[in-house]
Amino acid sequence: MATITGPLSGDAKKTVATALQGALVDLLDLSLLAKQMHWNLTGPHFRQIHLQLDEVTALAREHADTIAERAVALGLNPDGRAATIAKSTKLSQPENGWIEDGKVVATMTDILEAVGKRMRERVAVTDEPDPVSQDLLIAVAQDIDKQHWMFQAQR
Ligand SMILES: [Fe+2]
Repeated sequence: MATITGPLSGDAKKTVATALQGALVDLLDLSLLAKQMHWNLTGPHFRQIHLQLDEVTALAREHADTIAERAVALGLNPDGRAATIAKSTKLSQPENGWIEDGKVVATMTDILEAVGKRMRERVAVTDEPDPVSQDLLIAVAQDIDKQHWMFQAQR
């Protein structure tokens, strides 16, 4: 079996592993929750929010892949299993069933704010051990902050 070695070792590798795995779980669950609300949404602003939620899913999936592949390049194993996401996600979970547009906007605003905050914490801790991973996390934070703004503006 091939051994994947990367440039990091020791504590630096552990710090980056935690940051990347945390980001992966945030992004994968964000992609799932955005789809959940994309499907169960009701209300007069249905169309625009329905479409905007798919933008969130698309960017979350894209960034999840980038983050996971960065982990692999460092010799780490990304864990994107549903069971792992279910047990480790920090995203607040909306009730199952219909969800009105105003509630979706409020819920997504809160979720994106929390995810953005955690991404900035990850940007901070990866600064010294791995600026390359940090750069990817900054790109994630930029898109999360942008979506946060666009949902917040609809409140
Ligand atoms: Fe759809």
